[in-house]
Amino acid sequence: MTPDPELHEGPNAQQSQYWNEVAGPKWVALSDTIHGQIEPLGSAAMDRAGIEPGQRVLDVGCGCGHTSIELARRVGEAGHVDGLDLSAPMLAEARTRSGEPANLHFEVADVQSHDLGEAVYDRIFSRFGVMFFADPTAAFANLRRALKPKARMVFVCWQEIGKNPWMAVPGAAAAKHVEMPAPSVPHAPGPFAFADAERVTGLLQAGGFSNVACEPVEQTLMIGRGMSPEQLVEFSLQMGPAGAAMREADEALRDQLRASVAEAIEPYRGANGLEMDAAAWIFSAF
Ligand SMILES: C[S@@+](CC[C@H](N)C(=O)[O-])C[C@H]1O[C@@H](n2cnc3c(N)ncnc32)[C@H](O)[C@@H]1O
Repeated sequence: MTPDPELHEGPNAQQSQYWNEVAGPKWVALSDTIHGQIEPLGSAAMDRAGIEPGQRVLDVGCGCGHTSIELARRVGEAGHVDGLDLSAPMLAEARTRSGEPANLHFEVADVQSHDLGEAVYDRIFSRFGVMFFADPTAAFANLRRALKPKARMVFVCWQEIGKNPWMAVPGAAAAKHVEMPAPSVPHAPGPFAFADAERVTGLLQAGGFSNVACEPVEQTLMIGRGMSPEQLVEFSLQMGPAGAAMREADEALRDQLRASVAEAIEPYRGANGLEMDAAAWIFSAF
């Protein structure tokens, strides 16, 4: 599956390039590890979505397909799941992983601008796939149009980075060596763009949703389950701001980053990986 050239020029061109060329291949290589750590938060959201046999469900930003596969299991043969994502490599992984059963379809698409149809879906779901839209109001309006009247969208997104040490701790260690660019625009697309629950509620309402509910979920995650101490350091150096710093650094600086991140994550190391707190919001709206 190749990236759609139109996506590289569309409203989310920057994210398309990032998820096809930078983050996508990394997520594919680490997909089971990443899935293992965010699965409890995704499951909590999916349980609240009320997925039932026979429903038609859209999985927004479905990535490597773990949640789409589970949604397809829940809707059964009488239902159908569409997994949409900007990233061709992640969807290729999703197709292989799922074996492409008849009730599950994956497509490379920008959910903000793609014609999703009108009143097609009984549920829309997303696990950390909605925080990257250049124009969230336009994206939510597109999603609301695709939902049947009174049908529900449920997604999980991160709270602020300060409440998410799994990302903040390696990032702060890297920031000792590299000047981290300050976000140029407040709430710019990225993992923490939806940290302000009041703002997200407003965006949903502006997109045509009503009955918006938001619930905090705070949980200790197991990061890098089963990895050796060295693997945990390498894994921590691939994500978020630490990953961005590593991409820019020369060999000498990389060694310094590695040493600082190793020291910073050591207090979180348990018998089976890093045990780090995380905080997310589960939004529900119709
Ligand atoms: C943090 S990953 C989450 C992936 C997956 N939902 C999971 O939980 O494993 C975010 C995903 O959203 C996708 N994405 C970002 N912006 C998108 C857009 N406008 N349309 C479709 N997918 C998008 C990315 O390509 C990426 O796969």
